[in-house]
Amino acid sequence: MDVVVLVSGRGSNLRAICSAIDAGSCSANVVGVISDRGKAAALEFAEARGIPTRTVSLHKGDDRDAWNRSLADEVASLKPDLVVLAGFMRVLGAPLLDRFPGQIINVHPALLPSFPGHNGPQDALDGGVRISGCTVHIVDAGVDTGPILAQAAVPVLANDTAETLHARIQIQEHQILPRVIHQIAIGAITLDPLTVSTSVADPARSLSVPDV
Ligand code: GAR
Repeated sequence: MDVVVLVSGRGSNLRAICSAIDAGSCSANVVGVISDRGKAAALEFAEARGIPTRTVSLHKGDDRDAWNRSLADEVASLKPDLVVLAGFMRVLGAPLLDRFPGQIINVHPALLPSFPGHNGPQDALDGGVRISGCTVHIVDAGVDTGPILAQAAVPVLANDTAETLHARIQIQEHQILPRVIHQIAIGAITLDPLTVSTSVADPARSLSVPDV
């Protein structure tokens, strides 16, 4: 199964996917890594591994529809069977969602549907929960709203900061994301495009979380 991974930052989840592939526990092939930030460390890792990389930058004032179309074109040019958002900090638009309906998954650092958005660990701390975790879900037109495929829980400790909680959550992300990709590859999870809404019912909702 050919996978394109979309990243914005460090790329520890990309590394975990590649490690699982190397270990033989994830039957996938990363055919490309695309970032919205040219300086993402994840791109350096991919380049060092010989994975084709692309950057589709979005700056303040840019035409977001044009960016969405360029991103969709770049992803489609790599002909993936699955698109994986691994720390990609943008909300996807219709051009990509319509081209890959039900074929895009995301990893999120909270137990959805609680604490969607860009600050999952901090929001969990602010919410006072004693358990948090991570979620792998199918991407739809909302913000972290698509059907849930897998979750893992971690305790929230009394002296946690967003950083320490996030680090504990990421250990679990690195387990469940490659596992879900493998399960999709071997047909243990079937992605049904009909269960995924690719149109925004309430446009305000998709704008409720600002891009960084
Ligand atoms: C991950 O923890 C991922 O869950 C989160 O960004 C981090 C990226 O880490 N994504 C979101 O918050 C999306 N809403 P990485 O670059 O080290 O894989």
